[in-house]
Parts: sequence; C-alpha cells; structure tokens
Amino acid sequence: MARLKVGVLISGRGSNLQALLDACADPAFPAGIALVISNVATAQGLERAAKAGVPTLVINHKDFPDRESFDSKMDEALREAGVELVCLAGFMRLLSTRFVESWRGRMINIHPSLLPAFKGLRTHAQALAAGVAEHGCTVHWVTPTLDDGPAILQGKVPVLAGDTEETLAARVLEVEHRVYPEALRMIALRR
Ligand code: GRF
Repeated sequence: MARLKVGVLISGRGSNLQALLDACADPAFPAGIALVISNVATAQGLERAAKAGVPTLVINHKDFPDRESFDSKMDEALREAGVELVCLAGFMRLLSTRFVESWRGRMINIHPSLLPAFKGLRTHAQALAAGVAEHGCTVHWVTPTLDDGPAILQGKVPVLAGDTEETLAARVLEVEHRVYPEALRMIALRR
C-alpha cells in the first residue's frame, strides 16, 4: 500500500518533526513526509527536514494581510504536494476556521498535556501549579476550538518532587517523541 503523504507545519525547534522524520526514514513505516512548512525562516526544524532530504517551504505570516490569506497559501502548497494528512508540530499560529474545516479529519496536533487538562500555553507550569501527580501529552484531531479535538493517543509521565517547568517539560518531550510517530502509524494503517 502506498505510504500516507504527510505535511508538517512547524515554527521552531522541530524535535517532534525529527521524531516523525526518523520514523518515516524506515521504508516499512506506513507514512512519509512530503513537505515541511514553517512560518519562521530561522526555524531549526527546517534544517532537520533538509538534512532528511524532505522539501521545505517558508511561508511567513507577516507577508500576508490577514490569517485567511496566509492559510490559503499553506493550503495551496499542501495540496500541490499531494498531502493527505497535516501534522502540526510546534506550529505557533492560530489557524482560521476555514482552513481547519477544510482539513477536518485530516489534521492532527501534539499538545504537551493530558487533554482536556491544561489547554493553551505554559502547560508544564499549569500542571505544577495544579499539583497533579501525572502529566503528559496528547495527539488529537484538530477542530476549530483550540486544543479541543478528539484525542488519538496520550503518553503519561509522573510529576516528581522538586520538578521545575524545565525538568517536567524534558520528561514530557521524550514521551512526545514516542507518541507522535505511533499516532501517525495508527492513522496511516487505519485509513
Ligand atoms: C512541543 O512541546 C509540542 O507538544 C508543542 O510545541 C512543542 C514543540 O516542540 N505543541 P518541537 O518544536 O517539536 O521541538
């Protein structure tokens, strides 16, 4: 069966992108990355993609008058590349409802908390402030409401005494790197 064609949207470091690139490097993996788009020209993830031989594109949101026109440019590029599933991996722009609706059921995100707990930003600080014993990450379908779509897969870590935002973030990130490729595998196999 042909591999599922994936487009990844990033804004920065791209460590989750790296986990997806590494998984897709195995010819037996049921998905492959056709295009990486960044809205930030200096994003480290762009180098990671280039190193893996994956086409990249910078679409700077600042070059567009509004969210809709920026999103349509991304939409056009994804469709031209034949993308069947979009993976958000540290993409730091809100997406227009129109874009989200047009990729509904075909766009996933990884969020660093056990949703529905701790939506939005600074999730590790939120978890520490709440005093929870368990924290983690969620891969979920993207819907127009932020961090709200149906969960696909979660990864849990313990919160340890003495944890800081940084130590907890590092523990969660390790799990993100296992969970995101696994969720992609599940989706690609069930298509
Ligand atoms: C990750 O923690 C991810 O869960 C969140 O943004 C961060 C991106 O990190 N959505 P990276 O760019 O993948 O290293």
